[in-house]
Amino acid sequence: MRNVILIGFMGSGKTTVGLRLSYRLRRPVIDTDKMIEKEEKRTISELFAAEGEESFRAKETQCLRKLLKNTGSYIISVGGGLPLRKENRLLLHELGQVFYLRADAETIYERIKGDRTRPLLQCSDPKTKIRTMMERRDAYYRDAADVILQVDGKSFEQILDEIEAKVKQMC
Ligand code: S3P
Repeated sequence: MRNVILIGFMGSGKTTVGLRLSYRLRRPVIDTDKMIEKEEKRTISELFAAEGEESFRAKETQCLRKLLKNTGSYIISVGGGLPLRKENRLLLHELGQVFYLRADAETIYERIKGDRTRPLLQCSDPKTKIRTMMERRDAYYRDAADVILQVDGKSFEQILDEIEAKVKQMC
């Protein structure tokens, strides 16, 4: 069985869906942000502040390369910007089935307004920034995805049902 990989914009629900899917499918879950924070012994915000975004992006690629060496079958949720690199999109395809959790900018804004843990959204107008970033990123997410799931207005149970059905179909 291949890995199930969750991609999408910040706040699209990757981490929560990943955890719940892990219980349902009885497979361990890995989150690339958490993996990097553990290895670096600092938070993503600290990493961005100390070394900048490019250095973080390089660590994301290293992370995927490490995951490729794992045997077994995992649920993997990845940072929202990871699929922007072409190299990473190819690595994601090698790693498993890629699900794009796609949400409208409004949904994302409502979920993550007030969040202080995402360095790229610490600005005076996060709403506009979210919209601009999402427009730019959508094509990359689509390119990386095997399945696109529109998640607006859906419960976690519905999302999990849809993913589970696709995983079974693709097995
Ligand atoms: C980022 C998303 C974050 C984290 C970092 C950069 C992005 O992960 O990797 O803050 O560029 O979209 P989440 O999508 O889990 O919030």
